[in-house]
Amino acid sequence: MRRIEGYVIVSADGMLADAKGEMPDSIRNEADQRFFQDALDRAAVVVHGRHSHEGGSRAARRKRLVLTRQIAALAPDPEHPNALLWNPLGASLDQALERLGVSDGTVAVIGGPEVFSLFLPLYDAFHLSRAATAKIPGGLAVFTEVGPNATPEDVLAHRGFRPGARRELDADDGVSVVTWERQR
Ligand SMILES: NC(=O)c1ccc[n+]([C@@H]2O[C@H](COP(=O)([O-])OP(=O)(O)OC[C@H]3O[C@@H](n4cnc5c(N)ncnc54)[C@H](OP(=O)(O)O)[C@@H]3O)[C@@H](O)[C@H]2O)c1
Repeated sequence: MRRIEGYVIVSADGMLADAKGEMPDSIRNEADQRFFQDALDRAAVVVHGRHSHEGGSRAARRKRLVLTRQIAALAPDPEHPNALLWNPLGASLDQALERLGVSDGTVAVIGGPEVFSLFLPLYDAFHLSRAATAKIPGGLAVFTEVGPNATPEDVLAHRGFRPGARRELDADDGVSVVTWERQR
């Protein structure tokens, strides 16, 4: 049994990083980090682009796929333990997971925008955290499809997801999470 789930925290205007590709402190939150890191501990594998490693003291224990176009298909990752570099043009997700020795469990997708969008047809669930008091004008949006006429919620709804109840993670800081489940 495999599940594919996405995790992100965005600003009120749907951004996950600033224009320089850096995640500002305004969207970093301890309660959200706990929610995120605990979920990654339960996942069978973490998947992300080359600039989106989650950091933290438990990261080295996790199996991971790091997307890059610098290799043709699959290669050992010299920088991270338990990790493979993966170019989806050269190897399927199934092939990448098999090489890593992952047969079931949750595949946790953690960004950035291009990777979040690549997986839109595949997610079973997407956990959209929001820092409601933060704004990042000109920042990087969570999905490449987000724009003046499309919020992250619009993109998820358009792709067939439905939102669950909003859960407060840190009411004082205005941080909450909504899990969007794919309707089957
Ligand atoms: N707020 C949040 O929850 C959150 C979540 C994720 C990321 N972020 C932030 O977003 C920023 C990073 O954004 P980013 O756009 O640089 O994202 P990224 O996806 O981490 O890195 C982009 C790189 O990943 C590789 N890549 C991405 N898509 C690929 C694909 N389809 N096929 C092959 N390789 C692919 C490429 O690497 P090569 O150049 O090696 O080919 C590309 O240059 C960081 O500040 C990070 O902290 C925030």
